[in-house]
Amino acid sequence: MLIKKSGEIPSSEITPKNVYLSRRRFLAGVAISGAAAATGITLRELSTPSASVLAENKIAGLKKSPFSTTETVTPYQDVSHYNNYYEFSTDKDGPAELAKNFRTRPWKVKIDGQVDKKQELDVDAIIKMAPPEERIYRHRCVEGWSIVVPWIGFSLSELIKRVNPTSKAKFVEFTTIYDPSQMPGQQRNVLEWPYVEGLRMDEAMHPLTLLCFGMYGQELPNQDGAPLRIVVPWKYGFKSAKAIVRIRFTEKQPMNTWNISAPNEYGFYSNVNPHVDHPRWSQAKERRLGEFFKRPTLMFNGYDQVASLYTGMDLKKYF
Ligand code: MTE
Repeated sequence: MLIKKSGEIPSSEITPKNVYLSRRRFLAGVAISGAAAATGITLRELSTPSASVLAENKIAGLKKSPFSTTETVTPYQDVSHYNNYYEFSTDKDGPAELAKNFRTRPWKVKIDGQVDKKQELDVDAIIKMAPPEERIYRHRCVEGWSIVVPWIGFSLSELIKRVNPTSKAKFVEFTTIYDPSQMPGQQRNVLEWPYVEGLRMDEAMHPLTLLCFGMYGQELPNQDGAPLRIVVPWKYGFKSAKAIVRIRFTEKQPMNTWNISAPNEYGFYSNVNPHVDHPRWSQAKERRLGEFFKRPTLMFNGYDQVASLYTGMDLKKYF
């Protein structure tokens, strides 16, 4: 994702991910063992969310989704401590700590643009719109790493159907909260704030596109996008905007943050595509967090059911 000069690149991004993670795990392990020895808590209790956290934030009545992969799920600890969330930090391990006091309630989401009824919805009203599902998705970052996450949410189409977009609505734009007092990264010009992403209407309506408010059986941790984010599993991770406060329906293709910051590197579509390299690196392979060997990247991240959305489009041009 980086558009920085080499001198500014944090070590987390220049160290191969597996080396970085095993080093972090080793250091964390040393710290955890010490703490465990001192307190008598077991290592397992320290490396997974504690029973009280799980019980407190647990999401009840989860339906299993037929869209789930059966691949091995990435450990919670990695998914919640290896994050891209530039509003907090450009370091992978920064957001977990820096977002821990981020206020996710009260939280309103503005629905506007080309809709019959512009409105502001409370996030808890949105979450109750449809039964929550657990969807285990592959998630591929444009940087070349991937994870498998049991997200919780429901198809974004459930919300879109309820707000009645007009016939002019061709795209949907998602905006992240702008609050530099809570988000230290927004006090710097790393990106143009607020973070904005968009989808074409048929992509947004596709049942795979998830309106997400939880993971691993519980509410989303702040660093993963609480209280509400999008997850689009066949696209590079940056399309999946976090901490959404506005959903706007538009006639024209919205500008998306990474496209604004580096148009030759990050397009609007950003479909996972092993045949279209990033100008500075190949996209043919990826490293699953925690694994040593790289694996081939699959077209549309393996979600072939979306291929028909792009029939007749030159995906080298619309990257
Ligand atoms: N959303 C916001 N608001 N800010 C960000 O920096 N990073 C994106 C995406 N959504 C980002 C964001 C990128 S590059 C990725 S890979 C995913 O979030 C990472 O999601 P995760 O940390 O839950 O794995």
